Formats: sequence, structure tokens, C-alpha cells
Amino acid sequence: MNPFKAVVVERDEEKRQSVSLRTLTEADLMEGDVTLRVSHSSVNYKDGLAVTGKLPVVRRWPMVPGVDVSAEVISSADPLFKPGDQVILNGWGVGEAHLGGWSEIMRVKGDWLIKRPAELSAYDCAAIGTAGYTAMLSLMAIESYGLKPADGAAVVTGAAGGVGSISLMLLKNAGWHVIATTGKLSEADHLRHLGAEEVIDRAELSGPAKPLAKERWVTGIDNVGSHTLANVLSMTKGEGAIVACGNAQGMDLPSSVAPFILRGVALIGINSVTVPRAKREIAWARLAKEIDLAKLHLNTRKVSLDGAIEAGRAIAEGKIKGRVVVEVQ
Ligand SMILES: NC(=O)c1ccc[n+]([C@@H]2O[C@H](COP(=O)([O-])OP(=O)(O)OC[C@H]3O[C@@H](n4cnc5c(N)ncnc54)[C@H](OP(=O)(O)O)[C@@H]3O)[C@@H](O)[C@H]2O)c1
Repeated sequence: MNPFKAVVVERDEEKRQSVSLRTLTEADLMEGDVTLRVSHSSVNYKDGLAVTGKLPVVRRWPMVPGVDVSAEVISSADPLFKPGDQVILNGWGVGEAHLGGWSEIMRVKGDWLIKRPAELSAYDCAAIGTAGYTAMLSLMAIESYGLKPADGAAVVTGAAGGVGSISLMLLKNAGWHVIATTGKLSEADHLRHLGAEEVIDRAELSGPAKPLAKERWVTGIDNVGSHTLANVLSMTKGEGAIVACGNAQGMDLPSSVAPFILRGVALIGINSVTVPRAKREIAWARLAKEIDLAKLHLNTRKVSLDGAIEAGRAIAEGKIKGRVVVEVQ
């Protein structure tokens, strides 16, 4: 195998972190039964945390970030895959505990892979990435809970971000009246184009929450946590349910039990990282049918492997709009 390029995050003896584009060899690859030639990855909030060290997501040093992978199989000891297969990978600790997708070559467990849906290109799958797959898992959770668009509106927090922007598209496509909250009010027209009927300033939800407030929505996808999620819960209609999938404002949840015991509101958690393959395949099959590719492309920009480092720093500071695809080769 020829040497290959990868973005590597390292730590010295004093735990000072550095990140650079490096040349690796086969000896650097980790254990696994499938070797991949990666064509595309993406920039997720978690990748930004790995690049900057803002939160300790990296559990193995050195690390290659990149929780999303679109790739071709080079060789496989897993009977489900053969050379030339087009595959995708999201999560499973890749970019945290196992070398990730910001690398021209990877070796992974076949159990982590699914075949790329025929309707989507490798670029499309990276543009959707963990963000869009998590947005779909969130929509599936809302539907499984039994809520329907006729029950009320759906709120999306962190709407200009990756999970948020794709949540707007998917909820709108499913018939929901969508309310977007954002700190980037200059992007209001873009968020309306993606699917928001209303756009509100995130500052309305950023401070300490009352136990109960005026009911504004019956469901929602929260990417932000902390005071924002507490406010979202306090404004949820009786018998509604909110899906928590992010922590961009903070890991805390300074709420009260009032929404749960006085309005029968439910809080549903999403962990996209270890979802079993069968459910992943359902989520990706729905994404292939329900995502509006024209809107997805409008919401996505590309960077090179080198450019991923700067984009990782920017996403950790909340400065990225929509999705960023890493063109790896
Ligand atoms: N549960 C899972 O399996 C799963 C999967 C993927 C991602 N996540 C999590 O979901 C969140 C979103 O991920 P992402 O990749 O979409 O990240 P992202 O693109 O950075 O989006 C996060 C958005 O949150 C908003 N935000 C940032 N800082 C904020 C603050 N201090 N207060 C309020 N809002 C703030 C911003 O939206 P506006 O500019 O519109 O305000 C930002 O664009 C992250 O916390 C990530 O770790 C979880």
C-alpha cells in the first residue's frame, strides 16, 4: 500500500494538542476486517471538538477526526463486502476512539458499514452525514411517539447548523409547520427556503427558563441543550414530545419537572453513534427518498483535507452554516 494523507490530531507529554496534515503508512491503520479508500468525509461539531480539544471527545492518541465516511472497499475479510463496493459509515466511535474519515485510507469493522443507497452519490452521503442521519432518527422518534403535523408546530433549535438545517428540510417534507430558532438572523431567508415557516432569535430561549410558559409547539428537535432545551420544554404543548440530540449551548439541563408532570411532555434522547445496522438502513433508505438534493447542495460547501482543519475550528465556535463536505482524495 502506498503512503497516504490524513489529518492527525496529536498530544505531547504535557497534553498540549496539535493538528496537521500528515503522511501515514499501512502500519498506522487500526484493526478491522475491511480496508477502505475514502472519497468524502464531513465536518461535524464533534470533529470540531476533536480538532480544538474544546471537549474531550478523543479517546485514543494520535487520532484522525471525521465521524462520517463515504468510501470504496479496497479489500474485505467480511463476507458482506467485496472490493469495489460503495459504502458509508457514521459514528461507531470513528474520529473518537478509531481513526476517522479525514484520511485517504481507513481500516474498519465490516459491522459498522452499510451499502450506499443507489439514489445518493458519495458526496451526497457526506453532505447528509451524521447530521442528516441524526435528523432522520429524530423525525422517526417523533413519528414513533405518535405525533402528527395536525397536532401543532415543530421547533428546531440551532437551525443554521448541520443537524438543524437538515431537520428543517425533513420536517417540512413530512408536513410539519416548522419554527426555526437561530443566532444567525441574517440567514432567515435561507432557513425559510430550507423549510422554516417562522424564524425566531435564539436569544428568546437562551436564558433561564420558567417552569411553564405559553405553549408554542407540540414537538421539536433540539441541538443545543442547556437553557435552550429547558425553554423548549416549558413551551411544549400538553402530551407533546421533544427530541434532544445536541449540546451546542451546554451539557446541562436547568429545567424543572413541571413540563413532564403538569403537561405530560416527553423528552426523547437520540444517540446516533451505536444505532444497530437495521435501523441505520431504514434511516438511510428514508433519507434517499425524502431529502431534497437541490436544497442539500445549496446548504453544503466543500473543503479539501487541508481545509478541514480550519472548518473544524470554525464549527467548534458555532461559525459554520449548514454542512461542510471534505473532499478527501
Ligand atoms: N445525539 C447524536 O447522536 C448527535 C449526532 C450529531 C450531532 N449531535 C450534536 O448535535 C449538535 C449539533 O451538531 P451539528 O453537527 O449540527 O453542529 P453545528 O453545525 O455546529 O450546529 C450547532 C448549532 O447550534 C447553535 N449554537 C451554537 N452555539 C450555541 C450556543 N452557545 N447557544 C445556542 N445555540 C448555539 C448554532 O445554530 P444557530 O447559528 O442557528 O443558532 C449552531 O449552528 C452538537 O451538539 C452535536 O454534538 C448529536
